[in-house]
Amino acid sequence: MPDPVVWKIGQRESSVLSGPLGMCSPEPPLLIVVHVHSQRRQPRQRCRATGTMNAKYVLMNGEIIPATDGHVSILTHGFSYGTGCFEGIRGYWNPDTDDIYLFRIREHFERLHNSCRILNMRLNYTPDELVAQAIELVKRNGWRENIYLRPMVYKADEVIGVRLHGLRDDYYMVAVPMGDYIPTTGIKCGVSSWRRIDDNIIPARAKVTGGYLNSALAKTEANMNGFDEAILLTQEGHVSEGSGENLFLVMNNELHTPSSTDNILLGITRDTVMQIALREHGRATRERSIDRTELYIADEIFLCGTGAQIAPVIEVDHRVIGDGTIGTLSRSIVDNYAEIVRGRRSEYFHWLTPVYRELPVKPHKRGKANSTTLAATPAE
Ligand SMILES: Cc1ncc(COP(=O)(O)O)c(C=O)c1O
Repeated sequence: MPDPVVWKIGQRESSVLSGPLGMCSPEPPLLIVVHVHSQRRQPRQRCRATGTMNAKYVLMNGEIIPATDGHVSILTHGFSYGTGCFEGIRGYWNPDTDDIYLFRIREHFERLHNSCRILNMRLNYTPDELVAQAIELVKRNGWRENIYLRPMVYKADEVIGVRLHGLRDDYYMVAVPMGDYIPTTGIKCGVSSWRRIDDNIIPARAKVTGGYLNSALAKTEANMNGFDEAILLTQEGHVSEGSGENLFLVMNNELHTPSSTDNILLGITRDTVMQIALREHGRATRERSIDRTELYIADEIFLCGTGAQIAPVIEVDHRVIGDGTIGTLSRSIVDNYAEIVRGRRSEYFHWLTPVYRELPVKPHKRGKANSTTLAATPAE
């Protein structure tokens, strides 16, 4: 019988452990859930999604522990059935201020709470407590580069049997270095043959681990067909979103994005883009159902998400978008976003939670994108 494979946080693929833990051990068999660095490179996958995952510490159920102790059993319900929900949060390193800024972290934890509600799960920490834990975790790891935080709540009992009720909910958080998830220099997309999961199948509004099989099928199909990313349609044929991003298009100088009822994850970056477009360009975004062929005649398209950031699209299904280069509005949003997340625009400081030191407090006029005071950070 082959050795059971055991993945541990903090180990590179080449040093993945296998061996006596597990079947021969009197302890429950062990397996870690967060090693995602082992996929083979796909043809158009031009970015490395993760860092080396060499976190020294992780957080499990509110406690910071050495990464090498961060284990869960192979029988864990969430592992068998995808019964978990999670978040992806970026922290941007600014070498000028010697700090990392966690971007809209409180909103991410609010969404995690909403996902938990939908999945009948309990998360025993408030968003503010989770923010404080995240800061402490990043500090303990001593990161001084761009990072990605992954909190996850999952059905933790070691049982066979599909359900959501009557099971223990555990929670972990890791913070690891992260570069670009997809290129931000102009990508080629393909409309997927896989349809987006419907709210009545697996709620797209919740960030559910099991639901990402839909994304994975679409992403792999797109990469194998030579595209950088997939665009998924709803069962009705409306544009929904990318495999891990929301979508915007510019037509006749107007900004459009699929409405919340078209089975999208209500992205925090989507909201950020809408606020930047309004504040910086005076453009209100139209949230509406979008047809597939509108993609082909759009002047500009871009995807957005925490991982993807702002990723302009230059081709869809081999049709050139606009003149095949990054459009003016897309370029401006890419540039604004890059500055805002790194703490170079004080009028957006309320979106940032610094890890190592306080942000300078500046009085601002209260506006839509400025409605939270700095005094409220880091645990705003
Ligand atoms: C399916 C899907 N849609 C959209 C998004 C964008 O969401 P956000 O901007 O909150 O990261 C993500 C990323 O988490 C995603 O996985």
